[in-house]
Amino acid sequence: MTGFGYLNGVWAPLDRLHISPLDRGFLFGDGVYEVIRVRNRRPFRLEAHLERLEASARGILLNPGKSREEVRDLVFRLLEQAPASGEALVYIQVTRGVQFPRSHAFPPPDTPPTWFLAVWPFEGYPEEIYTRGVNIALFPEVRWRWVHLKTVQLLPNVLAKEEARRKGAFEGVFVTPDGLLVEGSSSTLFAVRDGAVLTTPSSTPVLPGITRKVVEEACRGLGIPLREAPLRKEDFPRYDEMFLASTTAHVVPVVAVEGESVGKGKPGPVTREILKRVLAIYFAETG
Ligand code: PDD
Repeated sequence: MTGFGYLNGVWAPLDRLHISPLDRGFLFGDGVYEVIRVRNRRPFRLEAHLERLEASARGILLNPGKSREEVRDLVFRLLEQAPASGEALVYIQVTRGVQFPRSHAFPPPDTPPTWFLAVWPFEGYPEEIYTRGVNIALFPEVRWRWVHLKTVQLLPNVLAKEEARRKGAFEGVFVTPDGLLVEGSSSTLFAVRDGAVLTTPSSTPVLPGITRKVVEEACRGLGIPLREAPLRKEDFPRYDEMFLASTTAHVVPVVAVEGESVGKGKPGPVTREILKRVLAIYFAETG
């Protein structure tokens, strides 16, 4: 299976689905999206993803034209095409539809939005990122301030990831001019200091991660305090551990920032406990 999708009422293998070049998602990045992890055809935290999709659409004044129930039904129909056992990703994207002639101004309100859903197998990342940990690279925070909305305008994220790749790092993390580490190009960032987990305050422009919520639950279950606190470049030497969290990667230990060791330079005990608990939650809910 290479991937199967739904595009505005058509169900087909991905290579047989085509969008119009006049789609506002293509021309303006005028759309929102979600990525959902699936195991044994069961989507993990589907409702939270659908809720965030609705919030992202509201945030860009996009009327999705489908109810939560309709979207959920599409996801479950799509999942019939996923491997019966094993892992997969579901991708959902809604754009402000097709408009001619091209115009920045919104199209007429009766313009149908473009709905694209896809599922493809996903085996996860190599085991060694969890056992050895990863290096992260830093990239200037050049994004707009509404990054709490999950829009398909991802050029800064794409460039940050490429910067990371060129430096042999797993992730590019956005850093503000005053040394604040915000989040990864596709992940939430955490630090561990004196037994407490710290993460970027939600008042900072940052994506409200679904996995962040799972990490919060894991910490509550483990009795590990979790606080919102700005993560600063100058505080690196005082962090015992750092880690990333995302739908696709769960929890990944960060052992170096731009080649400089974090803590002991290997995955720390708090991160490993949290990873274990997050995986237990994931397996329990998708078993
Ligand atoms: N990215 N921050 C950003 C900028 C992200 O794009 C993502 C997710 C996260 C983590 O959010 P969540 O835990 O809800 O996946 C944080 C997805 C996986 C992507 O774009 O592929």
